[in-house]
Amino acid sequence: MKILVTEGNPSGSKLAYKIIRDVNENGGKVFGFATGIAPEETYRLLRESDVDFTDKISINLDEYIGLSSDHNQSYHYFMNRHLFNEKPFKKSYLPDGMGDPEEVIREYDEILEENPIDLQILGIGVDGHIAFNEPGTSFDSTTHISYLDESTIKFNSQLFNSIDEVPRSAFTMGIKSIMDCKKIILLAFYESKAQAIYDTVLGPITEDVPASILQKHPDTTLILSKKSAKLLPENIITYVSDEEI
Ligand code: GLP
Repeated sequence: MKILVTEGNPSGSKLAYKIIRDVNENGGKVFGFATGIAPEETYRLLRESDVDFTDKISINLDEYIGLSSDHNQSYHYFMNRHLFNEKPFKKSYLPDGMGDPEEVIREYDEILEENPIDLQILGIGVDGHIAFNEPGTSFDSTTHISYLDESTIKFNSQLFNSIDEVPRSAFTMGIKSIMDCKKIILLAFYESKAQAIYDTVLGPITEDVPASILQKHPDTTLILSKKSAKLLPENIITYVSDEEI
């Protein structure tokens, strides 16, 4: 695991943007995207760049169950607004939040099988979740329905009018599929993620902290802010100054 610590945003996002651009220029064909506040600035940099994705494929991590693609809190809507409207891909895949669960799951696993992900962007939940794989999810999981933890519902309610509007379940790519991605970048900038980051990097590899499995991934880079990295010892981090980015 490579741990890069920047001043915060926008520096960390600029670093992530540069990695995505390099992978795209060097033959990367399939990009895995996350939603959330952490990747927003990276997507803005991509939107405003000359990066061309028109012959590439994107696959998102997850989608709320019960929200249609035009609902303004759906991940379809988020991705269109933050990236795809301005940077279209040849094909963009997200699970259909209104679809028949069995079919959605089967189709998504087929899509992942046929399109190995070259670069996956991840965020992390306060409880250490990646995508919507909550604590306790099997490391062998593929696409499945996740029932969201209370802490996730509370955190994600920031973007809804009220906590009651937050869906209680979602389709999510599984941990096994995430581990199959060739390269992974995990973004965390908030201080509220510091404990989850500590557990991910230095804690035991356990299904209680889904992101801890990344310790076993051959090419994962964590891009952190000083705040989200505040519990990590100096000797395991690489500080990247604004001048270097
Ligand atoms: C949601 C998403 C996750 C994301 C997490 C953190 O739960 N399903 O994929 O990692 O939010 O979001 P943020 O980037 O806002 O910190």
